[in-house]
Amino acid sequence: MRLTARLMKVFVTRRIPPEGQALLAQAGISNVEQWESDEPISREDLLKGVFGAQGILCLLSDKIDKKVLDTAGSNLKVISTLSVGVDHLALDEIKKRGIRVGYTPDVLTDATAELAVALLLTTSRRLPEGIEEVKNGGWTSWKPLWLCGHQLLNSTVGIIGLGRIVPLDQLAAQSDFVVVACALTPETKLMCNKNFFQKMKKTAVFVNISRGDVVNQEDLYQALANDQIAAAGLDVTTPEPLPTNHPLLSLKNCVILPHIGSATYGTRNIMSVLAVKNLLAGLKGEPMPNEFKL
Ligand code: DGY
Repeated sequence: MRLTARLMKVFVTRRIPPEGQALLAQAGISNVEQWESDEPISREDLLKGVFGAQGILCLLSDKIDKKVLDTAGSNLKVISTLSVGVDHLALDEIKKRGIRVGYTPDVLTDATAELAVALLLTTSRRLPEGIEEVKNGGWTSWKPLWLCGHQLLNSTVGIIGLGRIVPLDQLAAQSDFVVVACALTPETKLMCNKNFFQKMKKTAVFVNISRGDVVNQEDLYQALANDQIAAAGLDVTTPEPLPTNHPLLSLKNCVILPHIGSATYGTRNIMSVLAVKNLLAGLKGEPMPNEFKL
């Protein structure tokens, strides 16, 4: 089936990187409506936009819930998300309606892994504090123990969401660095809590590149403020963006980034192409390059 064969509406919830945008423009879809901004669409405009759509291309910041699905209506065939995470999609509702889901696994793994290493070193070697001291005149001399941190060499890095499954308590107790890289599911929600932080070594550094909701942030705050653990580096928080007066931002031993794990030009372009290919395949009823099986 050619996409121009009958009237077809697709709604795209944001401006996407150029390579995906170009592919979308060439696809010959009769009606592509798009939120022409780099800023998130409002709920009201999202509901207006999806009305009557056969396809939705969305981002991880768009909540695709029952109301959105109801508003889109029974023609909706495919939701393609420009993300590997699918926790913003009401998967049970989507499955009930026989809608297909495309997502972008694998292509962002390298960029996200690089960011994890960067965040781990930034946090453990206290780079933000050092940069701040240079700027504010706190750098008065080389001092033996000033701004000392924890070293990666010979350390044990426990990664939640990769390879061998180790009981969580054991991973917490044995690791010098804990990196959370798993998907957010009902099972992983708030799994890094008071009990988890109590099991960690006092010298350990906690890094989260997954989703803010895997962490109980109040418990993390207490663990950091009471020196239960050495430091934390977070690329993801709840909510996003984190309010600038959030208690975690008052801590010197907590480094927070604005969810930039996959933020390289190359990766975001590849993600956008994949998201468009998933969308087009879903509209045509063909196999998707990456379908999230429901
Ligand atoms: C994703 O794709 O889910 C990441 O969190 C952002 O790139």
